[in-house]
Amino acid sequence: MSDRLKFDHVVFFGRNFDEYLQLFALDAKDLEGRRVLDCPSGPCSFVADSHERGIDATGVDPMYGKSVEELSKEGARDIENGLEQLRAAPTTHPISDFEGYAQRKREALKGFLADYSAHRSRYIEGRLPNLPFANRSFDLVLSAHLLFAYSPIDEDGMLDSRVFDRTWHHEAVRELARVAGREIRLYPTVANVPEPRRHRYAEGVAADLCANGFQVAFVASRYDQFAPKYNDCLVATRLV
Ligand SMILES: C[S@@+](CC[C@H](N)C(=O)[O-])C[C@H]1O[C@@H](n2cnc3c(N)ncnc32)[C@H](O)[C@@H]1O
Repeated sequence: MSDRLKFDHVVFFGRNFDEYLQLFALDAKDLEGRRVLDCPSGPCSFVADSHERGIDATGVDPMYGKSVEELSKEGARDIENGLEQLRAAPTTHPISDFEGYAQRKREALKGFLADYSAHRSRYIEGRLPNLPFANRSFDLVLSAHLLFAYSPIDEDGMLDSRVFDRTWHHEAVRELARVAGREIRLYPTVANVPEPRRHRYAEGVAADLCANGFQVAFVASRYDQFAPKYNDCLVATRLV
């Protein structure tokens, strides 16, 4: 039994619209009339679900150059891999219904694949810290389960690699700030350690956002899967 979740790559794992509202402490009406960017969107059905509700959402992810078949295969494989990691580290999360958890991931993947195949222009290939969008292209930028979560394992994250180190985080958040016209929300902000605390990069990232014309608050998330304490979403609001 492990007390840390650990991954050897960023998993191609997705969530649905309702889970996004919980993650980011949002109500559906907060999204109405706004241009929303989901970065990274992965195999989430958030973009598809948003368009069904008349919300103008775009997803960006490095995987979006691939075919439906490739993404289907990688998505299914990562759901099984992810589940294996969660089962191997039971003290890190309160998930007991593994099958229900996996089923939600499969449904998100299915919704994503159908929309990716029918409305490809909603899904843009790109990777942080260089996004293919003009300054302030979006009102609201959402970013879940990449920043903080995939920092190196010995720096409060889950990844067995140093790709997403502190320097990368500063570059990534400045890029999110560049494309965000009004607001950025980041989740999670908790460290992947046995006794929950805020991620060691979080205050520096917040300071960077403030230096780039935003005001920052840590707001309680309603998505309490991994962290009963410090389960916060970082909300950055543009001042200038
Ligand atoms: C765990 S998924 C998160 C998806 C979604 N935001 C969610 O919360 O369910 C992480 C995603 O990050 C993408 N990714 C990996 N490196 C990236 C980078 N440098 N910039 C943007 N996305 C990246 C992966 O392809 C993967 O789809």
